[in-house]
Amino acid sequence: MGLVISTVNMKGGVGKTTLTVNLATCLAKYHGKRVLVLDLDSQISATLSLMSPHEFAKTRRKRRTLSYLLNNIVQPNPYSKLDVHDIVQPYICNIEGLDLLPGDLELYDEYVVSETLHKQASIVGNLDFKTVWNHFERVLIKKIITSVIEHYDLIIMDCAPGYNLLTRSGLAASHYYLLPARPEPLSVVGIQLLERRIAKLKESHQKTDPLNLNLLGVVFISSGGGLLSRYYNRVMKRVQQDFNPYQLFDTSIPMDVNVAKAVDSFRPVVTAMPNSSGSKAFIKLTQEFLSKLP
Ligand SMILES: Nc1ncnc2c1ncn2[C@@H]1O[C@H](COP(=O)(O)OP(=O)(O)O)[C@@H](O)[C@H]1O
Ligand SMILES: [Mg+2]
Repeated sequence: MGLVISTVNMKGGVGKTTLTVNLATCLAKYHGKRVLVLDLDSQISATLSLMSPHEFAKTRRKRRTLSYLLNNIVQPNPYSKLDVHDIVQPYICNIEGLDLLPGDLELYDEYVVSETLHKQASIVGNLDFKTVWNHFERVLIKKIITSVIEHYDLIIMDCAPGYNLLTRSGLAASHYYLLPARPEPLSVVGIQLLERRIAKLKESHQKTDPLNLNLLGVVFISSGGGLLSRYYNRVMKRVQQDFNPYQLFDTSIPMDVNVAKAVDSFRPVVTAMPNSSGSKAFIKLTQEFLSKLP
């Protein structure tokens, strides 16, 4: 059965999406893995890194996005015709084994979620809201991936910055999480905050349905060179003191303009510019990623 991985960091702009799409592409293209990318961020960066805005607009018009599945879980519709198999897009970027479950600009309505869960709590009677909420968080993303997981070696979820319901639910359904970070002091604080929140998440599910979630590793997106790079190295050393060596990837990703430019071609850099320094780093990182898995 497939392994489920979340890419998370409370901070935005640290390279979560770029890591998700390039790692997924390398796993499918160079290692023959069957990979599903799930876009849990309403900024839809992962979706738009893998398909053009035009294709996305068509997909959205046909309601073939994650939003349809989430709404159907929050408020089940007996007449709904589509299931997750209809929504997953295969053969993304013409790569065999690379599939995408497209995200959406509006994924769920917080008010409707709260109202539905309050109703459930009052119908069941003796259940408090927190128990109902915890259960919902535990199963929401799990329900979506359960019916497809047998088709994949890996499911990689691109989480939004912050720590919203989908991030928590995605983490609760994951075996591992990847933590991309820039070696800057505030980014390091972000790592520590996230680690504390994940510990709390595990604690809140410990009694009912313990999570089987572990950090696979911190991936540093490093700088170009010069003085900044020396400073970044000092910050990385500080992080190294806080983690076990096996929790840090040896491979870091250099800043490379080709990585940013690849988005224009709606393809990850590892297919758009496979010989660039960024691509080579992602290819090496993928090997290290595989060596860290059980
Ligand atoms: N290694 C890199 N080299 C150059 N630009 C990068 C690199 N990694 C990410 N970027 C750019 O930085 C921005 C933020 O990256 P992104 O992956 O979207 O971060 P996040 O998902 O954490 O918000 C994007 O414009 C992306 O193209
Ligand atoms: Mg992102």
